[in-house]
Amino acid sequence: MPHLPDSGFHRVASFYDRLARLVYGHHLEQAQLALLPHLPDSARVLVIGGGSGWLLTQLLQTQKHLAILYLDAAPAMLQRAEQRFIQYQQPHHSTVTFRLGTEQALQPEEQFDVVFTPFLLDLFPPKRLQQLMQRLNEALVPGGLWLFADFWPVQQPALWWQRLLATGMYTFFSVLSGVKARKLPDYQLHFDALALREVFSQAFYGGMVQGKVFVKEKRPV
Ligand SMILES: C[S@@+](CC[C@H](N)C(=O)[O-])C[C@H]1O[C@@H](n2cnc3c(N)ncnc32)[C@H](O)[C@@H]1O
Repeated sequence: MPHLPDSGFHRVASFYDRLARLVYGHHLEQAQLALLPHLPDSARVLVIGGGSGWLLTQLLQTQKHLAILYLDAAPAMLQRAEQRFIQYQQPHHSTVTFRLGTEQALQPEEQFDVVFTPFLLDLFPPKRLQQLMQRLNEALVPGGLWLFADFWPVQQPALWWQRLLATGMYTFFSVLSGVKARKLPDYQLHFDALALREVFSQAFYGGMVQGKVFVKEKRPV
């Protein structure tokens, strides 16, 4: 396989979901489910880093009219998501486009009402995260929503067990998937820099995981 940027999760695609469930039970899924009621009835949705497609089926089940771009950097993750979509037999009102790549694969003119980052932003060191978030923010229309689910300890500094777990995750995924970050980002700094305003927040897994909704202000920053 030619080297594709940020494609390291290709190597763990066959067991990633089972591992995540083993460690976190259904808490990571619940953090994403909590965001779905915030989706407009009709919207262009960018899902970036959705992995093997569990979230995609949940989006279809909302019965909303969604034009979804499902963008993931790992070929095996994207294939699994496509397979899941093909096997999804329930009626729904959405269209789905699958695309292999990173935010670099977004077209300059592509705009979305919703950007969904499910357990993606924790993978990047600060400078790279800033570039990634900047690009996603450009693709979000004024008034659009950013649905965020990730490891973000409510209590700062994080509790000892949260720091231990985060260190274990970074060690594991740096070796297996080439993850470059070494600690959880200061997300607040990045959202503030983009003038994204938080309108919803819910904590999961003893406060280590949060689901949040941010809105992009209509006025220019
Ligand atoms: C930690 S996994 C999370 C998967 C899924 N959202 C979940 O919660 O089970 C991160 C996912 O983001 C993808 N990814 C990593 N960097 C990416 C990038 N720059 N652009 C798009 N996808 C990326 C990986 O291939 C992987 O599928």
